[in-house]
Amino acid sequence: MKALPDSTAWKKLAEHCHAHASVSIRQRFDQQTNRAVELSTQAGPLRFHYSRQRLDAQTVDLLYTLADRCRVSEKVAAVMRGDEVNRSEHRSACHNQLRATHTTTAIESMRQQMRQLVDAVHSGALKSATGQRFSHIVNIGIGGSDLGPRLVIDALANQLPQKLACHFLANIDPTALSRITNRYPAGETLFLVSSKSFGTEETLANAKAAMAWVRDAVGSHFARHFIAITAQPDKAAAIGITRSIPFPDWVGGRFSLWSAIGLPIALTYGMDTYEKLLHGGESIDKLLASEARPAPILAGLIDVWNRNFLQCGALAILPYTERLRLLPDYLQQLFMESQGKHLTEAGEALAYKTGVVLFGSQGTNGQHSFHQLLHQGSDIIPCDFLLPLHNADATADSDHHHRLIANCLGQSLTLAHGESTTEIAARLRAEGHPEDEIAALAAHKTMPGNRPHSLITFEKVDAYTLGALIAFYEYRMMAASFVWGINPFDQWGVELGKLSSRSILQSLRANSANALDPVAAELLKRNTKD
Ligand code: F6P
Repeated sequence: MKALPDSTAWKKLAEHCHAHASVSIRQRFDQQTNRAVELSTQAGPLRFHYSRQRLDAQTVDLLYTLADRCRVSEKVAAVMRGDEVNRSEHRSACHNQLRATHTTTAIESMRQQMRQLVDAVHSGALKSATGQRFSHIVNIGIGGSDLGPRLVIDALANQLPQKLACHFLANIDPTALSRITNRYPAGETLFLVSSKSFGTEETLANAKAAMAWVRDAVGSHFARHFIAITAQPDKAAAIGITRSIPFPDWVGGRFSLWSAIGLPIALTYGMDTYEKLLHGGESIDKLLASEARPAPILAGLIDVWNRNFLQCGALAILPYTERLRLLPDYLQQLFMESQGKHLTEAGEALAYKTGVVLFGSQGTNGQHSFHQLLHQGSDIIPCDFLLPLHNADATADSDHHHRLIANCLGQSLTLAHGESTTEIAARLRAEGHPEDEIAALAAHKTMPGNRPHSLITFEKVDAYTLGALIAFYEYRMMAASFVWGINPFDQWGVELGKLSSRSILQSLRANSANALDPVAAELLKRNTKD
């Protein structure tokens, strides 16, 4: 088979891109009056608007031809069936089965264990070593064993009755640990040690430190305060955590929110809320199984268009809701760990770019920070605007939510249409600015526009919508990865860094600079002198 850039499908897209390079988003709207409606589509509770991307119906058709050539639908079906799609780790990646209403006995038994634990904690049947009810939980975990529950719990805060206060301990920095031990009562705190591998340095070190802290406070029955959420319960037992909720080892870390790793969510808001999250995710699985051109796949193909044909190397995630302020962090792992690959699945060097730098922040905060570069920077950075149409926190006497919507749509319009030097000059003149000032400033104020982006709108941020949103991004990430022919389910690139830090740690402990690389030796020598 030909290399991807030599395929007819790729070449046709390259020609099409070249032929239409000079057509701006503004002109596209002039030419297609119903464009806002025609280039938008539904995905469960989400509406995906892509009319402000630099494409047209022909681009979409050509992208689907490329997707067919790369067998994207077949590969997605293989994921959903549970085939061994993660070949370098000899595993399936069928996390969709974790959110299915009708699922396997093993997954049902995992859910049952979660339910029992949630009931025991909420009813007070499970008591602490000092005989108290647990009022705080601390999730110790990092990466996929942290980001999902952290996102969902933050997103649903203050709109649902909260059964317990949940806190997160991820970093190996002792400051992170002391922020837990200084703030919460050991006698009322339940620790969930969440680690698929139960071999992650940060999580194990923090778990051992937390165990010592609780033991000092409550005595010999401290183990009651610890539950492991892991695919390796034996390893948890080996450090003294005998109570565990296991989950299957084919669940990838960045997809593990749907497994028992989601337990902090169920403990905080109840199992019903957690199940709504699963149902939201399942609504997208159903869409994938039933529609010929489901929105998440289209979104992934647009990512390919922007990356490989428009040569954009980043994606900004801009949730216009405080509730999704942690979404950029969550998606950063989902996309950058999955797509940070420079070889095909078969180990061949890639002749095209994969993955993008994903970053972002909630609107309007980002407008006063990095949006300047989005508007006038020399790189074009595609964006996703996320906008709930209703806001549970909006009060009748405040128009905050209207202002938020206005800012989101204003940013989107400006990115798409911009403002030409002539328009700026006319506006400044109408505002009464003197001609010399207009001559000096008009060029600087010019907004180039034509900056491609999508909008994802939905009714409100609730558990169901969140589940759909996360699953939408999962399939979107997979669609682009399958076009590129990479394995989005492994992450070998993080391993060498772990080994290096281990050997540096040994040198630090032994106080022997000899074994260190020259930069580390020099840096630590200076540090010690200070
Ligand atoms: O180091 C990266 C990583 O392997 C992620 O993929 C994973 O989510 C995270 O570490 C935590 O891993 P674990 O759940 O095994 O502790």
